[in-house]
Amino acid sequence: MPRNLIDIVDLSVEEIDELIATAEDIIENPAKYQDACAHKQLATLFFEPSTRTRLSFESAMLSLGGSVLGFSSANSSSTAKGETVGDTIHTVSCYADIIAMRHPKEGAPLAAAQVAEVPIINAGDGGHNHPTQTLTDLLTIHREKGRLDNFTIGFCGDLKFGRTVHSLVNALSRYSNINFVLISPTELKLPRYVKEEALKKKGIPYTQTTDLESVIPQLDILYMTRVQKERFFNEEDYLRLKDSYILTPEKLVNAKADLSILHPLPRVNEIAVAVDKDPRAAYWRQVKNGKFIRMALIMKLLGVEI
Ligand code: NCD
Repeated sequence: MPRNLIDIVDLSVEEIDELIATAEDIIENPAKYQDACAHKQLATLFFEPSTRTRLSFESAMLSLGGSVLGFSSANSSSTAKGETVGDTIHTVSCYADIIAMRHPKEGAPLAAAQVAEVPIINAGDGGHNHPTQTLTDLLTIHREKGRLDNFTIGFCGDLKFGRTVHSLVNALSRYSNINFVLISPTELKLPRYVKEEALKKKGIPYTQTTDLESVIPQLDILYMTRVQKERFFNEEDYLRLKDSYILTPEKLVNAKADLSILHPLPRVNEIAVAVDKDPRAAYWRQVKNGKFIRMALIMKLLGVEI
């Protein structure tokens, strides 16, 4: 059975720490890895839009000396003719050594893993999970803070549909002494199943609020998110909620001097461009980190050692 990454908890904490160490070594010594995946092929099957995730996977594989194939929309694949995900995956696993897939349906990558003969990486499934964004976030926190424990993190925005939030909360619940502050409109609170599994069962403390400004001074990390337009059932609700939080330089006046601001991107309106100049804005560094951690992950799942 190939090794897959469907949910972040498919990796142990030790394995995550190893991936972070490998990614940090890749950043320091890229040449050492330039042929690590020579003659290997990565397929990126994106049934939903993407910029960073797909291109960082492709750039990662190319930087490892491998090659890439795939499609970037369901319309340009036989899905448009009615082919099932299972048959598409079966087909692609005849060509590629490893597959990264994104799909609007929760659980589609898990279903794919059941028919694939090569490793499957979940590159985002509906409003559910996004484990490789979480690896990116963890590498970013490690590089910004030098640790993955003992901090207060605020998650702000669409905590209901934001799959990156679900996966990151799950991942961080396995590290010690992390204080979770959940900031969202009442309608977009973190789903009960995530709270139950990741926080309540483990007795991890968290607070919930609708007010970003009142909690900003206590945060070490602020994880901003976009309101997930494509997951709303009606436009009216989206329009009402989309600008619930807009981070501006003024709102950061009372924040800690060493706050780290993360965002999985794309941003729509929730972080003013003026914040980009603030040294605490880590989201463009986070984009870069996404490529290096994916290089480490591809090597691990292909069983490549340097
Ligand atoms: C996120 C996603 O696709 O869930 N983007 C990403 O992969 N970097 C976040 C989002 O779309 O809001």
